[in-house]
Amino acid sequence: SGLQREVDALLADYLARKRTDSGNFPNAAFSRSSSTDSFATDESFYEQQDNQTSTNVVMERIQRRKSLQLRNQQAAWQESNDGQSMMEFRRSLPAQKERQSLLEAISQNQVVVVSGETGCGKTTQLPQYILESEIEAARGATCSIICTQPRRISAISVSERVAAERGEKIGESVGYKVRLEGMRGRDTRLLFCTTGVLLRRLLVDRSLKGVTHVIVDEIHERGMNEDFLLIVLKDLLPRRPELRLVLMSATLNAEMFSSYFGGAPMIHIPGFTYPVRSRFLEDILEVTGHRLTPYNQIDDYGQEKSWKMQKQALRKRKSQIASVVEERDGAVLVFMTGWDDINTLKDQLQSNPLLGDPSKVLLLACHGSMASSEQKLIFDKPEPGVRKIVLATNLAETSITINDVVFVVDCGKAKETSYDALNNTPCLLPTWISKASARQRRGRAGRVQSGECFHLYPQCVYNVFADYQLPELLRTPLQSLCLQIKSLRLGSISEFLSRALQSPESLSVQNAIEYLKVLGAFDQNEELTVLGKHLSMLPVEPKLGKMLIFGAIFNCLDPILTIVAGLSVRDPFMTPFDKKDLAESAKLQFSCRDYSDHLAIVRAYDGWREAERDRNGYDYCWRNFLSAQTLKALDSLRRQFLFLLKDTGLIDENMTMCNKWSRDENLVRAIICAGLYPGVSSVVNKEKSVSLKTMEDGQVMLYSSSVNGKEAKIPFPWLVFNEKVKVNSVFLRDSTAISDSILLLFGGNIQQGGLDGHLKMLGGYLEFFMSRDLASTYLNLKGELENLIHCK
Ligand code: CDP
Ligand code: MG
Repeated sequence: SGLQREVDALLADYLARKRTDSGNFPNAAFSRSSSTDSFATDESFYEQQDNQTSTNVVMERIQRRKSLQLRNQQAAWQESNDGQSMMEFRRSLPAQKERQSLLEAISQNQVVVVSGETGCGKTTQLPQYILESEIEAARGATCSIICTQPRRISAISVSERVAAERGEKIGESVGYKVRLEGMRGRDTRLLFCTTGVLLRRLLVDRSLKGVTHVIVDEIHERGMNEDFLLIVLKDLLPRRPELRLVLMSATLNAEMFSSYFGGAPMIHIPGFTYPVRSRFLEDILEVTGHRLTPYNQIDDYGQEKSWKMQKQALRKRKSQIASVVEERDGAVLVFMTGWDDINTLKDQLQSNPLLGDPSKVLLLACHGSMASSEQKLIFDKPEPGVRKIVLATNLAETSITINDVVFVVDCGKAKETSYDALNNTPCLLPTWISKASARQRRGRAGRVQSGECFHLYPQCVYNVFADYQLPELLRTPLQSLCLQIKSLRLGSISEFLSRALQSPESLSVQNAIEYLKVLGAFDQNEELTVLGKHLSMLPVEPKLGKMLIFGAIFNCLDPILTIVAGLSVRDPFMTPFDKKDLAESAKLQFSCRDYSDHLAIVRAYDGWREAERDRNGYDYCWRNFLSAQTLKALDSLRRQFLFLLKDTGLIDENMTMCNKWSRDENLVRAIICAGLYPGVSSVVNKEKSVSLKTMEDGQVMLYSSSVNGKEAKIPFPWLVFNEKVKVNSVFLRDSTAISDSILLLFGGNIQQGGLDGHLKMLGGYLEFFMSRDLASTYLNLKGELENLIHCK
């Protein structure tokens, strides 16, 4: 406490002087921020950090003192009772044996690649070793360690765990920062953040001033952001010789990363897991005397029909798996393809006596955006006699560790986004996982004792799995990425991407660039426009960012905030497995025959807000098949977007004007169109049905959950849609009907290419315009358009 007083006195002295010179240091830097912690305050935060680490003599003394203080604190915790038992746990982790060699390698090399089995202590221990050794060397107050995670949930849960291991509250020396949310303080030295957050920091702080260590975790997943970050960091390293980079990976393809960084040293942490008995489908069937149809070719097996047959077969087999599980205690982890499947199965299991006495079963679903109370249940041991069953996606493969899992059920598939560059169509299909994933899933069962894994596919299918999954960079649309490359001023997009670990096809790159031109984010020379600059600052997809900006500019903010927030979280409308029809007609009531899924979300949300005011929110959701949880998430996201817009100065603080036109439904449609174009399909009303076509795909379909999906007639000529997905045919998700004039005025980007360019862009649809004898509408609008362009 003597030290503390001294630090306080020095700080007071410093502040007094600082105030008399000029500065506004440091008030905001103290803020322990949550929702108010936006991107723009980040900038000032970093500035203040720079200020803090300036060479001012007084500051240096403060830092020396602070470092000593941290060292004392750390030693005191490690000697306390709680601290000792924590240290004992930590020392039992395999990473501990490598602590010294890891630290040495990191101090002697700019880049080090670390690999090791999941659970060996990479994520929680390695950043902590660095922090501890910096603190021990009395550099505690000057070090700044950033550890990136691919997902929000892991950034948050890991930082909480590490803070607990250090006997601290989150936001002291350990903090986290994820999109639109964070917990960190002035003295945070180890920050866990999502990869996206670090990329956005690079926008305002290109050389990562003040950062001493960057740790990129889970690189084996080959996420797009991680691959992107590696290119940027590779460029940065020569300019920042003191900066240390550590790459961490679960599986053993460390060589590729090492050679990418000019032969960086690799350290492997030998792990220990208990043996896991693997049973493939034939083993499970054998026990009960069923014969498996021989699948000679994986294609056959993958066919929908055999997939269904297999599911049926499995339903019979469940009891057999259950009997193995019943023999011993331990949690069950089930890997499913996606969120829909998880919900369906959860509903089914809850309404079905299959699991026996419901008080003896704790059934949990694990997803990326769950609340922390829910998360705790997943990590905690259940009451004695209660069986914990966790239904998860591949999220639970590597990034989170549930210790008490003894049984794993692996369905063998995962929903993977892929991208058909030729048709410029994203696909979301359940695809077979890789061998690496299957191994990883199996390994989850052997954490604390020997385990069992049920693979719900035959061994011969496993044998033809790919070794690793295709990197995300090669299978997703690249729009946001291209925008970021430009706003980071990284030069030519294709040249930059050619330096990736594995570069994407040039056709995908071209498609993304063309899209950004159409959206108005790039000019003809692929440089950022003013709109593009604004878009790159908003942490949402470019099309949603454009809607937000237009909503602000056109003073039509309220509904647009709801729509954008709705499109960024999950759909608030639920379709429970056994009440699909009821749910769909409940949704239809919100559409009021205005042919828009987006307006339906606005009405549902507004109704919910009103019901909440009367404390009837829950009832309202129940009656209307809405998810209260999703609406709450939507509500908070809405507030965050509002804050962002205020922050960027697009709307004024008092919001006097911004809702002037919010009730103008046509304007709302127009703004939706501005964001979603070129996602547009033509509508032709046939006798009893509606025929929809897009330029690239020809005939397309609507999901039956869309309010437009059940209409026999749509009295509008066009539908703009948020997303199309190729399943077997191409399906449109979330659509809004619009008129000709809206499409002409708001579809694409008139200013950029002039009227001719604009019409050329709409060119593919001109045929439709003409065929409907719309020449006169067109000619009238042409005048209007020209005015618009000249006004500009
Ligand atoms: O990153 P890696 O997979 O190598 O392991 P980790 O996430 O650092 O986890 C190391 C150990 O810490 C695990 O065995 C877990 O038992 C424990 N842990 C925990 O108890 N609670 C957490 N939230 C995270 C990890
Ligand atoms: Mg990890």
